[in-house]
Amino acid sequence: KIRVLTGITTTGTPHLGNYVGAIRPAIEASRGNVDSFYFMADYHALIKCDDPARIARSRLEIAATWLACGLDPDKVYFYRQSDIPEIPELTWLLTCVTAKGLMNRAHAYKSSVDANTAQGEDADAGISMGLYSYPILMAADILMFNAQRVPVGRDQIQHIEMARDIAARFNHLFGNGREYFALPEAAIEESVATLPGLDGRKMSKSYDNTVPLFEGGAKKLKETIARIVTDSKLPGEAKDPDSSALMPIYTAFAGAEDSAGFRAALADGLGWGEAKQRLFERLERDIAPMRARYETLIAQPGQIEDILQAGAARARGIARPLLQELRAAVGLRDFR
Ligand code: TYM
Repeated sequence: KIRVLTGITTTGTPHLGNYVGAIRPAIEASRGNVDSFYFMADYHALIKCDDPARIARSRLEIAATWLACGLDPDKVYFYRQSDIPEIPELTWLLTCVTAKGLMNRAHAYKSSVDANTAQGEDADAGISMGLYSYPILMAADILMFNAQRVPVGRDQIQHIEMARDIAARFNHLFGNGREYFALPEAAIEESVATLPGLDGRKMSKSYDNTVPLFEGGAKKLKETIARIVTDSKLPGEAKDPDSSALMPIYTAFAGAEDSAGFRAALADGLGWGEAKQRLFERLERDIAPMRARYETLIAQPGQIEDILQAGAARARGIARPLLQELRAAVGLRDFR
């Protein structure tokens, strides 16, 4: 069976970009004839955030979100990264075969260096080794379970290519003709690969332009949609449907065919206020039932904890034997 795997970093509240880029396609994939592995990337969160309360809250919110969106924990391996000690152990084995030059090319690291340089600071100011070697931890997430398919948004493609490079290097050095690791591939849904946020840039926690999926309820959803940036054309004037984030967000939920009417209405002079109301109603149709489940779940953290611990135990059942083989492959063998 093909293995599908994806994770979400636990630094904030899930937003529409996480949902359409990763959560929804991952849950759809899990209903097929596959083995799926979905997790909270909470070790990754430590790289970007040193606020323990925020990390703690976010891992609970993201766990509840996966479940509320329809993940079936009996069918999917559902766990926290930090509950699988084999992952940081594998990270070290991979770190030792990864070229420093490969990490120098990682976008997240490079953009921090560029920002420092632009401000006349030391190139590496404020950059931790965690940020620098972020892609190796992510490669370990994927390779630990030999995932072939990784549903993600476009911003993660480079990380998955790096995981392929690292896997190939390990196979080459230690495989002796054997492929310890399958080479993973990103699975990207083109229509939602980069969902724009309020200001039209990629929806991202770091741009502070996100539309939260559940937080704050329908009221907050409506208020946030009202903040989507548009031009100042009045009702009755023809709008360019592609001039704001409204259209792509609508399409991400309604599909290309159903959004044709919305597109035509905008071109025909639909007012932005009315358009936002229609967008809100379309989103609410999908989100309201999930939000109701989310609110029930988040009030029962003990139940979520039980689910995650059971998930980690099952996942470790796969991770442990592979890690033993990998240790032996690099020479860390039993003396007998
Ligand atoms: P993270 O937490 O930033 O985002 C989680 C997922 O949401 C997708 N996404 C988007 N998709 C479309 N449009 C957007 N505006 C948008 N914003 C976010 C991301 O592409 C991602 O799929 N490094 C990862 C977490 C991770 C991981 C892994 C993923 C750790 N280990 C192993 C896959 C496999 C990250 O920070 O994603």
